[in-house]
Amino acid sequence: MYYETATNDHGLPHDPLKALVAPRPIGWISSLDADGTPNLAPYSFFNLLATGPAIVGFSSGSKKDSQRNIEVTGDFVCNFTSVDLIDKVNATAKHVAAHVNEFELAGLTQVESRLIKAPRVAQARAHLECRYLKTVELPGEEESEMIWSLVLGQVVAVHIDDSYLKNGLVDTLAMEPLTRMGYLDYGVLGGMMTRERP
Ligand SMILES: Cc1cc2nc3c(=O)[nH]c(=O)nc-3n(C[C@H](O)[C@H](O)[C@H](O)COP(=O)(O)O)c2cc1C
Repeated sequence: MYYETATNDHGLPHDPLKALVAPRPIGWISSLDADGTPNLAPYSFFNLLATGPAIVGFSSGSKKDSQRNIEVTGDFVCNFTSVDLIDKVNATAKHVAAHVNEFELAGLTQVESRLIKAPRVAQARAHLECRYLKTVELPGEEESEMIWSLVLGQVVAVHIDDSYLKNGLVDTLAMEPLTRMGYLDYGVLGGMMTRERP
């Protein structure tokens, strides 16, 4: 099949694009609002974009609480998602009023960060403490009110559960990352292959 995005006439019941660019890591973004209320939500338009300094980014479709908080308070945490947390991750995607604490909503425990104000999810196996850098507004579609923004942060501290370090290396498979695919699908890693660089 073939279609052009200008018309999006793919003829399928759902847009296939997110099922193609998959699996995507999920940034489970925690932040604080100006009054100190914690916020937590999953973002799968998320990745590590650079190292030295380490930069992460996530895209928000319209200005949601996470973006609003981060732009006001200046920091956030990327909590790592694992398969055992699927229902809690999913629960924190619920659209709720800004004053609702999604940690409580999903039955998750908050722990303080070391260098920033935003709290971490205790149940997550790794965390990136990030300082807000900037927001890049992405080009919008004609006649659409939806504006996507790329929120960029610099990783200033990293926490890893020691039990996932084997001989000095992170055992990513053992961490069982929960990833995002298309539709309502989440992905589970099925294996690994290793090659020397040419
Ligand atoms: C696995 C998963 C990934 C998601 N990824 C994104 C994303 O990349 N960008 C986005 O705008 N919304 C995404 N959403 C929807 C948001 O999580 C949802 O709108 C949430 O309510 C936003 O919360 P906030 O207003 O507290 O930031 C995703 C939802 C799920 C379940």
